[in-house]
Amino acid sequence: ERIAILGVPTEVGTSEPGSVMGPAALRTAGLVRTLRDLGHAVADHGDVVPDGPADAVGRPAVAAWTRALARRVEAALYAGDLPVVLGGDHSLSLGTVEGAMRHCARTGRPLFVLWLDAHADFNTPETSPSGNLHGMPLAALCGEPGLSDLFADPGRPALDPTRVHLFGLRSIDAGERALVAARNVEVTDMRHIDEFGVVAPLRRSLERVAAASGHLHVSFDIDFLDPGLAPAVGTTVPGGATFREAHLIMEMLHDSGLVGSLDVVELNPFLDERGRSARVLVELVASLFGRRILDRPTPPIAAV
Ligand code: ARG
Ligand code: MN
Ligand code: MN
Ligand code: MN
Repeated sequence: ERIAILGVPTEVGTSEPGSVMGPAALRTAGLVRTLRDLGHAVADHGDVVPDGPADAVGRPAVAAWTRALARRVEAALYAGDLPVVLGGDHSLSLGTVEGAMRHCARTGRPLFVLWLDAHADFNTPETSPSGNLHGMPLAALCGEPGLSDLFADPGRPALDPTRVHLFGLRSIDAGERALVAARNVEVTDMRHIDEFGVVAPLRRSLERVAAASGHLHVSFDIDFLDPGLAPAVGTTVPGGATFREAHLIMEMLHDSGLVGSLDVVELNPFLDERGRSARVLVELVASLFGRRILDRPTPPIAAV
């Protein structure tokens, strides 16, 4: 695989400072070397520079990052690279997904989004209790009103909410709960994972992407993980994915061969303990890019 690393040091979407240091911490934890050791051709393109005035705040600042990142992601995909975007708060996914959507519009492949997150990130300015834009990217991408100023192209087509899969959900605000239901977003919440595990819902989702020859974008918010495993995030929620659940998801994603782009977001190194959250993330990304326990694929169910 040819991998293009793009750092997005932003925290304009959140009120908790520190995620601006996320890309640096992931590099320090050895992300690039780890991917190279797996045999990939990795180009670290450095950090993206926002397309706008350096002193912008709030929505214009988010829009400046989105414009710049959408262009970089689209260019990476056009070049045949798999973009791995290092955050930065989750508002940056506006840019990754807008870029992937442009690529998909050209290639004619449908875009599917797997959102690994404790949260739905489906608030609008109306429903948001915090006003933080990192809680709104999916609503914006799916075309909810009042958010089109965040995009490079305000007239862009919306992401189909039925092709969005929220995975790991355990914290949702009242207004966004209603919206997620009304838009038919696919949801695998922690209750579902407790009862049935991660394999059944993920396999179903991957089969759907494969059947449509889709491009799968994976947006990995570190708060998907249990805070005991990865404390370095401003919005920890107890009861998250375990170490093995998370690795299994990454291994299944790798085996599917469907992942076309990846965000790793919300790492706040200021809240970390001797770098352990950053290290866990690097290990998980390694699993997504082919690290496995044995040197052979998992046999299909019938052969077990
Ligand atoms: N639902 C809350 C809000 O909208 C929390 C969102 C957290 N989002 C995140 N990307 N960590 O403010
Ligand atoms: Mn492609
Ligand atoms: Mn979250
Ligand atoms: Mn999030």
